[in-house]
Amino acid sequence: MSATARKTAPLPSDIRAMKGGAPIVSLTAYTTPMARMMDAHCDFVLVGDSVGMVLHGLPSTIGVTMEMMILHGQAVARGLDKAMLVIDMPFGSYEESPEQAFHNASRVMRETGAAAVKLEGGAHMAETIAFLTARGAPVMAHIGLTPQSINTLGGYKVQGRGDQGASLMADAEAVARAGAFSVVIEKVPAGLADRITADISIPTIGIGASAGCDGQVLVVDDMLGLFTAFKPKFVKRYATLGEDGEAAIAAYAAEVRARAFPAPEHTFADETPSA
Ligand code: KIV
Repeated sequence: MSATARKTAPLPSDIRAMKGGAPIVSLTAYTTPMARMMDAHCDFVLVGDSVGMVLHGLPSTIGVTMEMMILHGQAVARGLDKAMLVIDMPFGSYEESPEQAFHNASRVMRETGAAAVKLEGGAHMAETIAFLTARGAPVMAHIGLTPQSINTLGGYKVQGRGDQGASLMADAEAVARAGAFSVVIEKVPAGLADRITADISIPTIGIGASAGCDGQVLVVDDMLGLFTAFKPKFVKRYATLGEDGEAAIAAYAAEVRARAFPAPEHTFADETPSA
């Protein structure tokens, strides 16, 4: 599906139908202007809980709240016209029970207009994914490196190497069977990502996975070079907005100190100029 050929935002079923076709394009966004920039180019836009790290300076995604996701979700919704909106369920908002997950997922969808939610976890979340899907809350699953679990995974390590590969494959199969319309696969060996993509019936969205996945997602602040605290190997920087922004701020500060800004063209005359 090309972004220009589309008149209205796709639904989760449209994304599901892109399995094995043209690669699905997606990025994260957290604000209205960013959403506007990517709307014509992405099939879906994800308000990731990475917002906690890249915009709020948190050390991980664990401190992200429902209120943060809803506020940023509403901002992104105002900037989207063509791309589908998906919102991450934050840590602690869905793991306790399918009922808790539905209560919070329905609130996220109602208050933001998102078409779907994303949640982390494989086979152990299958019951919840089925429960939400059956009640009108489409789910994008997220397996492999699941950043909300760094404390049990032992950090941001590659997942699925060696013997772990079979259990990651089982996770992918379980979320697909449970009714997820797609699955994010994060930081896994490329060969395993390709085998999962060939094996399951729903689109795989890779991040640190493989170009053979059905689609790709990146954190927008990473790919624009705005978030520079660290750079995972799987991030490609398409711009250096962080450096460019700092250089612009330094130039402004120097001009203010030299009384070179504002220049006459930025100031107002006492009298209205005659025509
Ligand atoms: O929170 C996030 O940004 C994500 C990724 C898939 C990029 O979950």
